[in-house]
Amino acid sequence: DAEKDQYKAKIKQLLKDKNAVLVAHYYTDPEIQALAEETGGCVADSLEMARFGNQHPADTLIVAGVKFMGETAKVLTPEKTVLMPTLEATCSLDLGCPIKEFNEFCDKHPDRTVVVYANTSTEVKARADWIVTSSCALEIVEHLDEQGEKILWGPDKHLGAYIEKQTGADMLMWDGACIVHDEFKTKALVDMKALHPDAAVLVHPESPASVIDLADAVGSTSQLIKAAQELDNNKFIVATDRGIFYKMQQLCPEKEFFEAPTAGEGATCKSCAHCPWMAMNGLKAIHDALIDPTGREIFVDMDLRDGALKSLNRMLDFSA
Ligand code: 13P
Ligand code: SF4
Repeated sequence: DAEKDQYKAKIKQLLKDKNAVLVAHYYTDPEIQALAEETGGCVADSLEMARFGNQHPADTLIVAGVKFMGETAKVLTPEKTVLMPTLEATCSLDLGCPIKEFNEFCDKHPDRTVVVYANTSTEVKARADWIVTSSCALEIVEHLDEQGEKILWGPDKHLGAYIEKQTGADMLMWDGACIVHDEFKTKALVDMKALHPDAAVLVHPESPASVIDLADAVGSTSQLIKAAQELDNNKFIVATDRGIFYKMQQLCPEKEFFEAPTAGEGATCKSCAHCPWMAMNGLKAIHDALIDPTGREIFVDMDLRDGALKSLNRMLDFSA
């Protein structure tokens, strides 16, 4: 509508004026992803977002995603101004892994290599030996297992259990989950598969094991998008945030995508296939952040930065 068009036009001008670039995650709303693409920014998974922000020459990054993505960008490029549409866009995994308790957990198991998911605070990243995203977690744990290392894993228990099963690594788990993926329901998915027997099932590994067991492809957002392109099926049932449909539909216009069920008949869910924090990245919020960064700029403690940078770089180098 007219108001949205006005915001888009203003944002385009502001990005130019401020030498800023918009970096968006696949779970943001379609209009945000489209705007990032139109303005020379990127739409990506969390690993690619980190890499893009690190390499892009802009003075300012505006990160449409959730807070850990902004913090990762600032750790990698402290010389850049890193803005977020709202600093309230957090993540249940980050919230569920406070540094004090995580430190105590690590202190109790000094013999283990600490591997943490990128969906965490800078403090937790600084405590980690390795940081991983869902794109590279499997390969990194496999590598550590081959070195004979025992692992302390946090915070996503479902991703951790999936990797443990795939690699056979010795992993001690933190008990955290994503409120969006945790809601996908096994029985309802079995019923949906029966309705669409020719559909392939794509599942993000933050989902429960019983849902992952039903998948034809399991992977990060970018890996699921690739699977949608590469598999021969014309129909897909997708167990991840529905924001991903924008890119899947754009790349495969002739294919059909269905949301995996988040609740059985009569049941309800808290966050049905759309992350409430990703949904905070609206056009107005992006516009306002570019006009007045107060309260929307990411800062990280420089002492913590050194620790987090070491393990982030380890991940980027490994997955280069
Ligand atoms: P990807 O790394 O697969 O993009 O997932 C990150 C995530 O959980 C964003 O919510
Ligand atoms: Fe966190 Fe889940 Fe939202 Fe991703 S979708 S940001 S893991 S709460």
